[in-house]
Amino acid sequence: MIPKILITGCNGQVGFELKRSLSFIGEVIALDRSSFDLSNPDSIRENIRRIQPSIILNPAAYTAVDKAESDANMAESVNSFAPRIIGEEARKISALVIHYSTDYVFDGTKIAPYTETDSVNPLGVYGRTKLEGEIALAESGAKHLILRTSWVYGAHGKNFIKTILRLAASREELRIVADQFGAPTGAALLADASTHITARYLRDGSGNFPFGLYHLAAAGETSWHGFAQYIVAKATAAGLKLQASPDRILPIPTTEYPTPAARPANSRLDTSKFRAAFGLQTPDWTHGVDNVLDGLLEQ
Ligand SMILES: NC(=O)c1ccc[n+]([C@@H]2O[C@H](COP(=O)([O-])OP(=O)(O)OC[C@H]3O[C@@H](n4cnc5c(N)ncnc54)[C@H](OP(=O)(O)O)[C@@H]3O)[C@@H](O)[C@H]2O)c1
Repeated sequence: MIPKILITGCNGQVGFELKRSLSFIGEVIALDRSSFDLSNPDSIRENIRRIQPSIILNPAAYTAVDKAESDANMAESVNSFAPRIIGEEARKISALVIHYSTDYVFDGTKIAPYTETDSVNPLGVYGRTKLEGEIALAESGAKHLILRTSWVYGAHGKNFIKTILRLAASREELRIVADQFGAPTGAALLADASTHITARYLRDGSGNFPFGLYHLAAAGETSWHGFAQYIVAKATAAGLKLQASPDRILPIPTTEYPTPAARPANSRLDTSKFRAAFGLQTPDWTHGVDNVLDGLLEQ
């Protein structure tokens, strides 16, 4: 029988790519906010009871990091409470839940990349509510995987790559934060990895499946400044006419770019547990950025 795979937030960066990637291995039911509203417990329960999926992937989230500071109730509904309800419903029908979380559960004070056993200490409402969602899902008793990732971009949706291309087209100089470090991670990487994991689960069953919490991000690291310079250099080399040249992408400290929510200085995630458990490699961060840039530049 073809397995039913339910995807939430299908118009988000990761949701969009999951819909593409998972359609190879099952019947995908991909729903957006209008039909599967994570702020509405009845909507969550009704959908899962009606669809009876074998697997639920939940990339939907309240992701507006700064707005969350003044909209904590909504961020809690979507990020903290919804994963518990999804987990409770999934447990009843023995469905696997694959849930996505964030490097922002950490305060960024560690020198080395973060492992799954490191202490959490979110700096803002977004990170706190995402952490609460992780805990709620784990406590629900559902079979689950929680994939923490960082600095997500994709061909679909709003993200840093598109913002930098837009700004560099109209300004001669950009000033970008250079003291926060992480790995830009493509929505396509997350979707393809999730599809491999799902295929393994469907093939092997629950018996030896390594459920639990994992860090999953591209390999290597850069700063937001390094990321911006890379984007502008690639786009310029590809012939795109930009006002700003790579050497006019200037590094600034976080203190010169204050935001409502503080960000961790160290967003680097150690992915060795994920790679060992699933036998997968994580490509360098530039690999996925090149793919998305090639697509955007063709347009
Ligand atoms: N973006 C990052 O840099 C980043 C970094 C680390 C971890 N993550 C995590 O990775 C996952 C995927 O992120 P992403 O970049 O794909 O996010 P995204 O592009 O912002 O997409 C989030 C999706 O969630 C949907 N959503 C918001 N509120 C909802 C609600 N009440 N009910 C149903 N859907 C709702 C949004 O719907 P609309 O389209 O209607 O707004 C959107 O489609 C999230 O769990 C996020 O926390 C992201």
